[in-house]
Amino acid sequence: MAYVIAVAGKGGVGKTTICAMLVQHLLKIDKPILAVDADPNSNLNVALGLEYEETIADIREEVKKQTPESFSKSEFFGLRLEEAVAEGNGFDLLVMGRPEGPGCYCAVNNILREYLARISKKYKFVVIDNEAGMEHLSRRTATDIDLLLLISDPTMVGISSAVNAFNTAKSAGLKIKDIVLVINKSKGGLESDKLKLIENAGLKIGGYICFQEEIQKNSEKGKGVVEADSNLENIIDSLFKQEEKINIIP
Ligand SMILES: Nc1ncnc2c1ncn2[C@@H]1O[C@H](COP(=O)(O)OP(=O)(O)O)[C@@H](O)[C@H]1O
Ligand SMILES: [Mg+2]
Repeated sequence: MAYVIAVAGKGGVGKTTICAMLVQHLLKIDKPILAVDADPNSNLNVALGLEYEETIADIREEVKKQTPESFSKSEFFGLRLEEAVAEGNGFDLLVMGRPEGPGCYCAVNNILREYLARISKKYKFVVIDNEAGMEHLSRRTATDIDLLLLISDPTMVGISSAVNAFNTAKSAGLKIKDIVLVINKSKGGLESDKLKLIENAGLKIGGYICFQEEIQKNSEKGKGVVEADSNLENIIDSLFKQEEKINIIP
């Protein structure tokens, strides 16, 4: 079974950047890796330096409207989804695309969930770049999540949003083994009121990633993320070490 890491948090806090860094770091541990861009404002491919042709949303529409008679919906969806996987070096990318339009998508979403659960088994790690809301994480993925990284910048708005996501994740009954807050774009420690908010919510701080101008400049130029930040590597390695003790690591 793949070890599934989902990344969530307010827009602009660095989710996509961190997902791309995660892929770079995890490649050193084990492969293959599946990166899933579950943000409707898809741009994980840019950070990963990979082109893609189709989104799952495009295929979902196609299956809903025109499954050829010789196929069942499920067979056709499976075939088309396989074509939508973009292949990188040691990792693949699936782009979810925009949310569904009006009408009922239950049947296709069920097929999609089964498909994602099935293909996830082929990978050692699955990394999901999520949008801020937690709802579609459960709607679109049937797999349990081993680690949810909530990302925030050092602002009160970012932290409140991470705390809300934490509470939603808990109340939505998602199966998540571990939830950790990562403060990105850090310029030093956090003020006591912010620390208090995090502590009162019962949220753990996994660590801090420093603000680095180079990261921002590279993304402004449309350059991909070619290596992981050492702060992030330490955060992940120490989380894995803790988990090994309690045997969650595959
Ligand atoms: N640690 C960091 N230091 C400096 N800039 C960062 C850092 N992390 C992310 N950024 C920049 O912040 C912007 C938003 O990052 P992005 O990963 O797209 O956020 P999100 O996916 O959460 O919307 C990008 O310009 C990115 O380069
Ligand atoms: Mg993003």
